[in-house]
Amino acid sequence: MSRDQKFFDVYSIVIGALAAFALAILVLALKMADLTQGVYTRDAAEYQAAVNERIAPVGQVYLSGEHHEAEAPKAETAATPDPVATLLSGPQVYNEACIACHGAGIGGAPVLGDAAAWEPRIAKGEETLGLHAIEGFTGVGYMPPKGGRMDLSDEEILDAVSYMIEESS
Ligand code: HEC
Repeated sequence: MSRDQKFFDVYSIVIGALAAFALAILVLALKMADLTQGVYTRDAAEYQAAVNERIAPVGQVYLSGEHHEAEAPKAETAATPDPVATLLSGPQVYNEACIACHGAGIGGAPVLGDAAAWEPRIAKGEETLGLHAIEGFTGVGYMPPKGGRMDLSDEEILDAVSYMIEESS
């Protein structure tokens, strides 16, 4: 056997081995791709959706004026309970309707807690004070009927008067 012939034999074997190796790697790569990503067996749309999910931004920025109905939080549609006629307590009425004048003594209003200012008024009797609070009263200053809150019931005003007397005697 000539040396050339021997060279070609070895050369062919090496080339063949390399080709086989390359082919094996190709097959392995395809197999791995299929296993990990399912490119060939899975539905293309499903695969794309999975990719989109993986590369989706973590947050989104909405500019004012933009409307995103789908993303907008659903308004809670809790059943609204039937309105119940509730009476406000004395302190509640005071804080809502009387504190504006009686908190700081606006227009000569006797200040809540000022025993000296309330003493001569309390001397008139709670009944009279209640009546003056409901119907209004003009002395040095002007106390409007129900403090201007005509939506409040007489009972609520009387409770507020009791509370004011209690706090000021
Ligand atoms: C717009 C201001 C104003 C509001 C609001 C107001 N008051 Fe008066 N109130 C006065 C003034 C001023 C007087 C003093 C009148 C006077 O004797 O010159 C007064 C006096 C009173 C007196 C004493 C009356 C008397 O016979 O001496 C009572 C009681 C009273 N207010 C209760 C209330 C109650 C209860 C509320 C809340 C529901 C209320 N006021 C809200 C201004 C107000």
